[in-house]
Amino acid sequence: MQNKKHFIIITVLILLVSVLTYYALLSIGLMPVSASIQSKPIDWLFDLEFKLIAFFFSLIMVPLVYSLVVFRRKDGDETDGPHIEGHTNLELIWTAVPLIIVIALGVIGADNLKQVLAVDPQAHQVKVVGFQWGWRFEYPEGFTTNTLYLPVDQQVLLNLESTDVLHSFWVPEFRIKQDLVPGQITEYRITPSLIGNYKVRCAEICGTSHSYMEAPVIVLSQADYAVWRDDQIKLAKEQELASAGKPDAGRGQVLYQESGCKACHSVDGSKGVGPTWDGLFESNVPLADGTTVAADEAFVRESILMPSAKVVKGYSPNAMPNFSYLKDGQVNDIIEYIKTLK
Ligand code: CUA
Repeated sequence: MQNKKHFIIITVLILLVSVLTYYALLSIGLMPVSASIQSKPIDWLFDLEFKLIAFFFSLIMVPLVYSLVVFRRKDGDETDGPHIEGHTNLELIWTAVPLIIVIALGVIGADNLKQVLAVDPQAHQVKVVGFQWGWRFEYPEGFTTNTLYLPVDQQVLLNLESTDVLHSFWVPEFRIKQDLVPGQITEYRITPSLIGNYKVRCAEICGTSHSYMEAPVIVLSQADYAVWRDDQIKLAKEQELASAGKPDAGRGQVLYQESGCKACHSVDGSKGVGPTWDGLFESNVPLADGTTVAADEAFVRESILMPSAKVVKGYSPNAMPNFSYLKDGQVNDIIEYIKTLK
């Protein structure tokens, strides 16, 4: 009779603490806002796991604390506790139940993955290039940006490439994370479901400035996206036409700021990941192999297109991605800008 009373109290307490623990977990705000179709099944699975975590936490903690309090040894009681030797049924239960749970979670997880990886043949594609330390987004329409723009409610297939080491593409609001592997193209499919501003961050330690390897991700309505895309196509054409003419230091300065040069090369003489551009042009540059080279147009052009051909003394080889996606005229504009800094 006494045992039955304890059993009922403990069962009620376990259920109560389970519910409280579950809502406590939810209230911490572990998940950022959900902004993709793919995050729905992932969040559903997380919710299931939170419920299981809350239940098993209570299943262990409640009987433990209850025993400590209720079955505490009385003062002066020096007798041994009752000797207990195994319990076949209990052992069968605590072997079978976890086995069933693990198998069930495996099946649910596989089905979940299938939903997350579902392919829409209509998906539009964007090439994503990760490098130490930044992101570049190359659109099939022929323009390149440093901010990833995506239309809402339309699947996009991002083809991920790295120019140097392992990186990882992660937008927490989209939930999915995918590594970038040098020499290989990895795929990342996402259907943004919420208009807004997000951020892609690198989730694979990749060197000194890993923590700064971020880029804005902007999800637009389909109409706004179409306008933006047409603007970019027009802009790219104009830039190409303009750069085909006389090189221009002003355009070069804009490229310096927007193409990622700025992240590593200062223009005020301070040392960055790469050599400063201040006073660079026509100076004598010491190289890692002990020779020196005159920083003429040919050297600067080669350093932009094939950065590891000549490595400047004191700087690591392969630190810079090649910028061969730049048009000839754009490289000329950058050289023209560097000339103004000598
Ligand atoms: Cu790229 Cu960390």
